[in-house]
Amino acid sequence: MSLVNKIDKSKLPNHIAIIMDGNGRWAKKRGFLRNLGHKSGAKSVKQVVEACAEINVKFLTLYAFSTENWNRPKLEVELLMKLLISSLKKELNTLQKNNIKLITIGNQESLPSKVLKELSYVIEKTKNNNQLTLTLALSYGSREEIIKTIKEISLKVKNNLISPENIDISIINNHLYTRNLPDVDLLIRTSGEQRISNFLLWQIAYAELYFTDVLWPDFSKENLFEAILNYQKRERRFGKTSEQINE
Ligand code: IPE
Ligand code: IPE
Ligand code: MG
Repeated sequence: MSLVNKIDKSKLPNHIAIIMDGNGRWAKKRGFLRNLGHKSGAKSVKQVVEACAEINVKFLTLYAFSTENWNRPKLEVELLMKLLISSLKKELNTLQKNNIKLITIGNQESLPSKVLKELSYVIEKTKNNNQLTLTLALSYGSREEIIKTIKEISLKVKNNLISPENIDISIINNHLYTRNLPDVDLLIRTSGEQRISNFLLWQIAYAELYFTDVLWPDFSKENLFEAILNYQKRERRFGKTSEQINE
């Protein structure tokens, strides 16, 4: 029986973010080149996206390429960019069928023009969909995002558009790449690594963290349901006491 039946639909995480890690190790274990791991990883992306749409999770954010990933071998970076283009072409139908809106976060200017072209096509085509917002973090780094935010706010202060006393959580939220997204409720990282790797540092302030040893290409719908079930067992106290939460 699928774990999906055990999920409490009234307590779903509104926003799930995933650090999709372990493609290289998955390939190496099988004696394949890393690239095959990335190709296999694309299948897990499809699984997880469809699962979220199915059970009514409203926001899914996937860490697909970090600012630090530009330092990988040139050939691997090229392959990842090619894979992104082919997946966008291939999966547009899936997005439309499941009523999914695609957006991106990250430093888009650094992406190759072919990638940008395909992205803007799919973003435009899916802009009115509203079952699930799928955010791809591409050339994304949280520290860079925070620096950009500080620069934009400083400029507004300089031009008297914002006064320093008024800077608060919502002003910062409104200047981040994630300005249209709610805080993350559940952050999943695959492959056994237990670190954040410069992903959504501000936005995970109160997220529940879930680490699994499963390598990303092996991650299935059932693994996602398992993570959600684990999340549902936790008590989110946000600084309060357990008694306050349950009164
Ligand atoms: C995640 O898998 C994919 C990207 C970072 C683009 P990795 O490629 O990091 O896989 P490992 O960590 O080497 O196994
Ligand atoms: C984080 O994975 C980035 C993505 C999943 C896109 P990495 O595999 O690049 O992270 P580190 O460098 O091992 O922390
Ligand atoms: Mg990795």
